[in-house]
Amino acid sequence: MTAAALFESLAIPIIQAPMLGASGPAMALAVTRAGGMGSLAAGGLAPEDIVEQIAALKAATDRPFGVNLLIARAAAPDPAIVTEALERLAPWHDRLGIELPAPPNDYAPDFDAQFAALLAAAPPLASFTFDVLNRDQVAALQAAGTLVVGTATTVAEARAWAAVGADAICAQGGEAGGHRGEFLKPGPESLIGTMALVVTVRAAVDLPVIAAGGIMDGRGVAAALSLGAAAAQMGTAFLLAEEATIGKPWRGRIESAPDDATAVTRAFTGRHARGIENDFMRALRPVEGEVPDYPVQNRLTRDMRAAGGRLGDSEVLSLWAGQGVSLTRAGSAADLVQAWWDEAREVSAALHARTHGPDGHRR
Ligand SMILES: Cc1cc2nc3c(=O)[nH]c(=O)nc-3n(C[C@H](O)[C@H](O)[C@H](O)COP(=O)(O)O)c2cc1C
Repeated sequence: MTAAALFESLAIPIIQAPMLGASGPAMALAVTRAGGMGSLAAGGLAPEDIVEQIAALKAATDRPFGVNLLIARAAAPDPAIVTEALERLAPWHDRLGIELPAPPNDYAPDFDAQFAALLAAAPPLASFTFDVLNRDQVAALQAAGTLVVGTATTVAEARAWAAVGADAICAQGGEAGGHRGEFLKPGPESLIGTMALVVTVRAAVDLPVIAAGGIMDGRGVAAALSLGAAAAQMGTAFLLAEEATIGKPWRGRIESAPDDATAVTRAFTGRHARGIENDFMRALRPVEGEVPDYPVQNRLTRDMRAAGGRLGDSEVLSLWAGQGVSLTRAGSAADLVQAWWDEAREVSAALHARTHGPDGHRR
């Protein structure tokens, strides 16, 4: 099946975005069963868990779903940089009453082992972010029956994914919550809005495009399809779903988020990401350019963030969310997907009336 045929086959062209730390297999299955396409965020999983969770999803549904990996290289940072970074975090550990961690041996899961597990488990679709695969990796997935989606934040990145043979592009605008997929230029130089990105990527590459970033309801879904996207991918809009795996402090900050709640920071992970602004982000802003690159800083702040979650201190948590966060609604993932699709149909009918007049003739 081609990617275009897969997206066309969805009863509801809404893709639940993979969200490491916020979505699990239950959400992926609920959205897939509701007629959209769920995604398993596998970036933090051990290879054996990737195989097991994909097998469980395949057993639970005949419909297509996606699996997402973060393309992260092994890190071997200079010990002096690690010590300096830990010293910077010391006051935050004191505040939480926890020990500063010792310099770790491992900073991120082994991507090659995760990739091998994904290849063996052969999900219907796999998406990747943070970098681009090589041609052989893409061809191997396709030979196993897995469609390949590459995340792009610029037209140049979309072209790079097309050049290695990807089946579709996820065009991820600067509105998006969490980390984005930039790999050719730094995050702040890759903050193109979803509306401009989707149409320019469509014009540049002859592949189906998934629109992501700032899509919060049926109006956004209809807009994405009007721009020529094959499907709309929504992340932040699912954060208050019953199936979301976020803890109470994060959930509470989403429920009460003001309109202009988010900012982009590299303070938590060493890679630019968008989240609800809090004390940690504000305090590290003057030095955030100096924190070690992902995945080092991500690993070094892990204990602090885990303690913040346990102790209910949302000022030290990475509260990933996109620019539309104030519109996030609660409900089951299935009900949300159905409600957004109903809204998209209403919006489309209203647009038809506007363009064709009340008697159905073109104005
Ligand atoms: C909490 C959170 C975690 C995310 N984790 C991932 C991830 O693991 N892999 C990925 O490709 N994108 C990740 N993203 C980005 C989403 O896949 C998606 O592109 C983005 O949420 C779309 O923008 P929106 O949040 O405005 O809907 C994450 C986003 C959020 C909000």
